[in-house]
Amino acid sequence: MTRPPITGATVVAGVAGQPVRHSLSPLIHNAWLEAAGIDGVYVPFDLPIAGFEGFVAGLRGGAVRGINVTVPFKEVALTLADRASDRALAASAANILVFEADGSVIADNTDGVGLISAFAIQAPGLVLASGPVAILGAGGGARGAAAALLAAGAPQVRIINRTLAKAQAMAKAFGARATAHPLAGAAHAFAGVVAVVNATSAELGEKAVLEAPLEATPAGAVVMDMVYRPLITPFLAHARRIGRPTVDGLAMLIGQAAPAFEAFYGRPPPAQVDIRALALKVIGG
Ligand code: ATR
Repeated sequence: MTRPPITGATVVAGVAGQPVRHSLSPLIHNAWLEAAGIDGVYVPFDLPIAGFEGFVAGLRGGAVRGINVTVPFKEVALTLADRASDRALAASAANILVFEADGSVIADNTDGVGLISAFAIQAPGLVLASGPVAILGAGGGARGAAAALLAAGAPQVRIINRTLAKAQAMAKAFGARATAHPLAGAAHAFAGVVAVVNATSAELGEKAVLEAPLEATPAGAVVMDMVYRPLITPFLAHARRIGRPTVDGLAMLIGQAAPAFEAFYGRPPPAQVDIRALALKVIGG
């Protein structure tokens, strides 16, 4: 790839996180920018933990068009915005902040869109409205997943978490269609589900494995992992060994990036780039 020249009119966007060094978002957005011939650039903003609020305040006015927000700033990002989309409010987190010329900051969350599009692409036969979905985890990622799955018509989300109290608090916030379960009760919660989503951070560490009794899911249940490094996590490898169809976190990452690109640069990403193949070159798989 050759980088288009930076001009005086280049639209700047980026991703803010800590750490952000391993983010695939700069690769994805810059490949789209180049293919579309847009005078724009997308850069990493590696911020100190205490620096996010000041960073956002400094961007009011639109010198930077917008940022993706990643761990650990998604929750605070929502609180710093002047307006927020319903889906950001439902997830209690933002993965996008847009800086308007009038100084206002708009929050959105496209992680849920990414999750639903990952299912649509990699498990096209799955009808989310046809049965309960189990979610492992009760952090920000799990909240976003629950909000998206309920909005997509899932009749029930079963929140399974190591710390039961967190699952209970989350289920309460989501109302009658959400239930809470301890990790030790996962087999019970897996009965009759149409899909399982791993939204824990259990497998982010080297060699870490999330032990989940996936055998207790129905034979056709779709197993999804929000982690995309490695592409086939131990959790997905387990699902594949027992014959469950799987959906990977890279499909979700690309699915959330597309509406972010449109928010920053004013048009959808160009269709001709095989962004998944490009990302796979970096992460392997
Ligand atoms: P995020 O905002 O990215 O979802 P988080 O808020 O730190 O991250 O939440 C991480 C989730 O992964 C939590 O649900 C956590 O369980 P606890 O609430 O019990 O801490 C879960 N998690 C992390 N490590 C885990 C492990 N080794 N086994 C099971 N669950 C784990």
